[in-house]
Amino acid sequence: MLVRVENLEKSYGSGSERQAVLRGVSLAVSAGESLAITGESGSGKSTLLHLIGLLDAPDAGEIWIKDEDLSGLDDKGRAERRRHQIGLVFQQFNLVPSLSVKANILLQARLANRIDDAWIDALTERLDLNACLDRFPEQLSGGQQQRVAVGRALAARPELLLADEPTGNLDEETSAQVLDLMLELCADAHTALIMVTHSMTAAERLSRRVHLTGGQLT
Ligand SMILES: Nc1ncnc2c1ncn2[C@@H]1O[C@H](COP(=O)(O)OP(=O)(O)O)[C@@H](O)[C@H]1O
Ligand SMILES: [Mg+2]
Repeated sequence: MLVRVENLEKSYGSGSERQAVLRGVSLAVSAGESLAITGESGSGKSTLLHLIGLLDAPDAGEIWIKDEDLSGLDDKGRAERRRHQIGLVFQQFNLVPSLSVKANILLQARLANRIDDAWIDALTERLDLNACLDRFPEQLSGGQQQRVAVGRALAARPELLLADEPTGNLDEETSAQVLDLMLELCADAHTALIMVTHSMTAAERLSRRVHLTGGQLT
């Protein structure tokens, strides 16, 4: 098993404002597998993905990647694991505006000290970005920006790609293209994918689906 999540709990706020968002969430994803997480707006999908992506810490429960329990790590330890093992793609692209397309793509791979030139070349080719490597994010269409984000997330060949509504800001045709590319490239790199989406059409392209409701998966 690549990722194993056991009984995750997460609440926000305190006192009478306290809101339990995740109430014991468990899931498992094996190497190279793809899992879609669906659920209504506000059901806690992003919260769950952020915990798996080590961007935040749970109140209770465990997150295992391979044979390591990551739930007890401090911020530094989480950042280190994230850099080496996890790629992230967000709805808002989150590219660095002051960096070229090429520099954005290399960002995480450089931090992880994992630059494989042949793989980077194959990535930019497959993502159809070779003509715009020297441009800046603001000079790109939404679809191009998300392809850059996918390239950046996969540049270091992480074992796990996490995508939070990756096609939420794209039109239908562009969404389908970006999703196709993500699935193909994950298959090539043997990268597992966990994708949050409210689109059933998108969810059905992945190998498995779970639904988040009332703070639990069904
Ligand atoms: N950092 C935060 N502080 C306080 N409340 C939050 C925070 N993040 C999310 N929430 C609340 O947690 C609930 C789940 O949010 P979220 O995980 O973003 O859901 P989804 O991605 O399914 O729309 C929402 O009610 C949201 O307002
Ligand atoms: Mg969300």
